[in-house]
Amino acid sequence: MVEILPAILAHDEAEFMKKVERVRALGAMLHIDVMDGIFVKNTTWAPPDRLRLLLEGVPFEAHLMVSNPEHAAPIWLACGAARVIFHVEATTKESLICRATAEECENLAIAMNPDTPVSRITHLLDSFKQVMVMGVTPGWSGQPFQDIALEKIAMLKSLRPSIRIMVDGGVKTENAARIAAAGADVLIAGSALTEHPDPAEAIVSLRHAVNGTNFGV
Ligand code: DX5
Ligand code: ZN
Repeated sequence: MVEILPAILAHDEAEFMKKVERVRALGAMLHIDVMDGIFVKNTTWAPPDRLRLLLEGVPFEAHLMVSNPEHAAPIWLACGAARVIFHVEATTKESLICRATAEECENLAIAMNPDTPVSRITHLLDSFKQVMVMGVTPGWSGQPFQDIALEKIAMLKSLRPSIRIMVDGGVKTENAARIAAAGADVLIAGSALTEHPDPAEAIVSLRHAVNGTNFGV
């Protein structure tokens, strides 16, 4: 079954909590967007120690759009992130991340931007079992999905059928079925949920689009 996770991209604590309150009842793990203003031009409000308190009882993952994620990844895991996603374009120390987080290596995923070819990560597929294919160039919510992601998903799945593929950016009810059909296991949706007048109805439509059954929330 394809999972749908709500993305939270916020600039201050008030916006963060407003978005969390809109989607927390959906019963899905939250995808927290973390931006440093260096790896991407935008910045987000997401201090891991504060989030640990605010999100008590709510599972969350951290999408690190930051330079040198080898420093931040272990902190997020220590602060309760169920999964940490780092960008292959942001570091040359992918194996260090795996070593630094030791047994939690299973909880790490590699993200790749639309311009980054699959060949950039093939040598990492023995260590990392989860890959996040970006549907947009990271930085902002609400951008259109880039179809290059579909080719990359299919390529990754044919290289490693057991790989878990997440897709982030530009996911909407209209394209979710195509993305799932290409081989995605997890779809991350920001504006399609947090900006929808009824997020519960929106997640049902997304789940229906990818799984073909009318799943409740
Ligand atoms: C993009 C972020 C995404 C984004 C998704 O930089 O990593 O998680 O918040 O938002 P939508 O679904 O609106 O593209
Ligand atoms: Zn994200």
